[in-house]
Formats: sequence, C-alpha cells, structure tokens
Amino acid sequence: MASNSGDSRGLFSGNLGYILAVAGSAVGLGNIWRFPYLTAKYGGGIFLLIYFLLLFTFGYALIMAETSLGRKTRLSPVGAYRAFAGSKEHSFLKIGGWLNAIVPMIILPYYCLIGGWIVKYMFEYLTGGSTSAAADGFFVGFITSNFVPVFWHLLFLGCTALIILKGVQKGVERASVVMMPILLVLAVIVAVYSMTRPGAGAGIAYYLIPDFSKFSLMTVVAACGQLFFSLSVGMGILITYGSYMKKDVDVEKATVRIGLMDTTVALLAGFMIIPAVFAFSGGDAAAVNAGPGLMFITIPKVFESMGMGSFIGAAFFVMVFFAALTSSISILETCVSTLTDELKWSRKRATLFMFFEAIALGVPCSLGFGAWDFISIAGLSILDMMDFLASSILCPLCALLTCLLIGRLVGIQKLIDEIKSTSAFRGEVVFRFCVTYLAPVILTLVFVSSVAATLGFIKI
Ligand code: PHE
Repeated sequence: MASNSGDSRGLFSGNLGYILAVAGSAVGLGNIWRFPYLTAKYGGGIFLLIYFLLLFTFGYALIMAETSLGRKTRLSPVGAYRAFAGSKEHSFLKIGGWLNAIVPMIILPYYCLIGGWIVKYMFEYLTGGSTSAAADGFFVGFITSNFVPVFWHLLFLGCTALIILKGVQKGVERASVVMMPILLVLAVIVAVYSMTRPGAGAGIAYYLIPDFSKFSLMTVVAACGQLFFSLSVGMGILITYGSYMKKDVDVEKATVRIGLMDTTVALLAGFMIIPAVFAFSGGDAAAVNAGPGLMFITIPKVFESMGMGSFIGAAFFVMVFFAALTSSISILETCVSTLTDELKWSRKRATLFMFFEAIALGVPCSLGFGAWDFISIAGLSILDMMDFLASSILCPLCALLTCLLIGRLVGIQKLIDEIKSTSAFRGEVVFRFCVTYLAPVILTLVFVSSVAATLGFIKI
C-alpha cells in the first residue's frame, strides 16, 4: 500500500476548500476552448442535447463513484483499485488502475500547448496587439510557425511545473477564487454582445435547436469524450482528489455544485462563440467547422468590433489563463501523485519526468500543424489524435473498468454506504442503475465506436 495512505495524507479544508479545488480543476480549456468547437462541429443543438442526457445520468454517477472510491481508499488510482478490491486478485485491477493514471499523462502535453496559445494571445492583448490578433490568417500563421508555438508551450508548462515544484498551488487557487467570478461576468457580457450581433440568430438556433438529421454515433462518442474531459472523469483525477477529501464533506452536494458550475461556464462559452461565428462569417455554416482553432479565430473578431474590446480582450485572456492553469496544475499533480505513490519517486523527480514527457509529446503536437502536417490518422492532426485517444478511447475504457470494479467485482453497496455516511444520497437509484447497467452498455458502445473510427470504419 502506498506510503501516504491514512491520516498522514494532506486533506482539503472542508467543503468549500474541496469544491473550489475541484472546480478549479474542472473549469478550464475544456469548457472554453473544447466545448464550443465540438458543439459546432457535431451539429450544435443535437450535441448539446446528448451532452445533457449523458451528464444527468452516468456523468453524475461516475463523478460520485470516483470521488467516493478515492475517499474510501485514500489512495490515487492504482492503489485505490487495489485496495478497494481487498484480497481479490485480478490482473484487470492493475491494468485498470494504471490506465486511469496514464490518461492525464497523455492530456498534459497538448493541454499545455493550448495553454501556450492562450499565453500568446494574452501577451498580444496586453501589448496592444489586439487588432493584429483579429486579422484573418493570424491564428493559422501562428500555429503553423513550427517552433514559435513551442516557445509559448514551454512557458505555460514551465509555470505549471514550477508551481507544483514549489508547492504553491494554494496561492494559485486563492487567486483563481477571485478570477473565476470575474471570468463569469466577462463571459456573460461577451455572450450577450455576440448574441445581439446581426446574423447571430442563426447561430443561436444552431446551438440550441436539435437537428436530428445531424445525429450520428460520433455525436455520442464526442459528447461522451467531452463529458470526461470537462468534468475530469475517467482519468483518476477525482479518485485522487476524493482521497484528499475530509470524511465530513457531503459528496453528493459537492458533486452537484461542481457539475453545475462546470456546465454553466461551458454553456456560456458556447453562447460567446457559436453565434459570433455565424455573425462574423456572414452566415457561412462551414465556418463552424474550424476545429481546435475556433475560439482563437472567432473571439478576437468579437473583441475587435466591441467598444473597449482590447481592454476586455486582455482581461478575458488573463482570466482564461488562470482557469487553464488551475486545471493543468491538477493534471500534473495527479501524474506526480501516481509516480510518487507507486514508484516511490521523489516529488522533484516525478515533476521533472513529467516536464520532459510533456515536451517530448507536446512538440510533435505543435509541429503537427506545421512541418509535420502530413501526419494524420482518420483525418486527425497529431493533437486531435492524442485528444481522441485520451478522451474518446481511454476514458470510456477506464470508466468502464471502474464500473465493473464497483458493480461486479466488489459490490456497489460498499460505495453507497460510503456516500451515505455523509449525504442524504437522493440520486441513489440513478447511481445504482447507471453504474450497474446503463454506463457499462454506453461505455462499451462508445469504446467500440471510437476504435472503429480510428481504424477508418466510421467517419469521425
Ligand atoms: N477538466 C479540465 C478542463 O475542462 C481539464 C482537465 C482534464 C483537468 C483532465 C484535469 C484532467 O479544462
């Protein structure tokens, strides 16, 4: 068993401390960058509808399951799987634990690359470059310039690693407590502005009204992947955070609050970006398919046309930078915690290892838009491929294994008792049904479809 199990483990101070830390991890680029471009790409309203259906069923159940698994065992994923199963020996336990632990290691490199793009835009806005950032071709010129984005990537990654090394997460979390509400207010202002531009109505309709003809298996796969990414589920993060949670925190209440916060920010980001795409492209529906660059192309145009746009833009990118930083800290922290728990590495060694790993995998992601743009699988760039591998292939698999561990191997009642020790647990029936039946079926479907898509049998 890991050395820092039991009471020696650092704990979050109470309810609020826990909620803020997990919300800091959940709210990030997944909400502001990833959610709008995927919603736009996968048909708007229909994607939104499926996202919500998944969120209220097994999204909720999985967060509860992972958090309480962490709290019960007081260990990060590898140890938690082992400890929860007790004396049962199953090789799938080991594989399941490690798979959970590996996902954040895949996400960290490209998360920091996009974080670097944010730093670049923040720098442009703070140094009076808002007009050039809004010009056609600025974004593409930037991401195709090979090692230039790598420089910004290193800056963002370096900040993350330094914070972890110096152990000053607390300071950053405190700063983000101030930043988060400002980000929300800014997002509301920008969203209202976007939605009232001429031509934006078509975008609002596209975003909110489901068009069932746009439904495909890939809509479900993408919505499910987004759910995992945004809520940091299916990758050991919540197991790790749950393990730091005090025994008196109400797991159910905390979960519902975090889910609400995360979804609100994502929805707002959609309202900022999707109507604006329609308004600024003169109603050209093809423009919504801009992929990972959607926010970087659209948002500067919104600011450019707005009164005080360069000021609001600068504030916006500073806030997004903080939101992204609190998330990348949590990703790196989980990786470090696995390496120190399981391999008995020192924190410093684990952090340095992850730093170089994130460079080794992040540089190809960046070059994938420039010199290496000939590399692609199923039409995806290197960054998209890593993202798809993590959130659409591995996360569903991890979540499936967690459901099997809880629902079949050990018995769900053990976790229900854990949750009930501090919560009224109103969602018990949903939880039981989802973990035992619904989630395994949907997760298997999603996993099989993603693999089929990677092999070219289904169009992504
Ligand atoms: N959920 C975070 C976001 O939405 C990203 C994240 C992914 C955080 C994986 C932790 C782990 O940006």
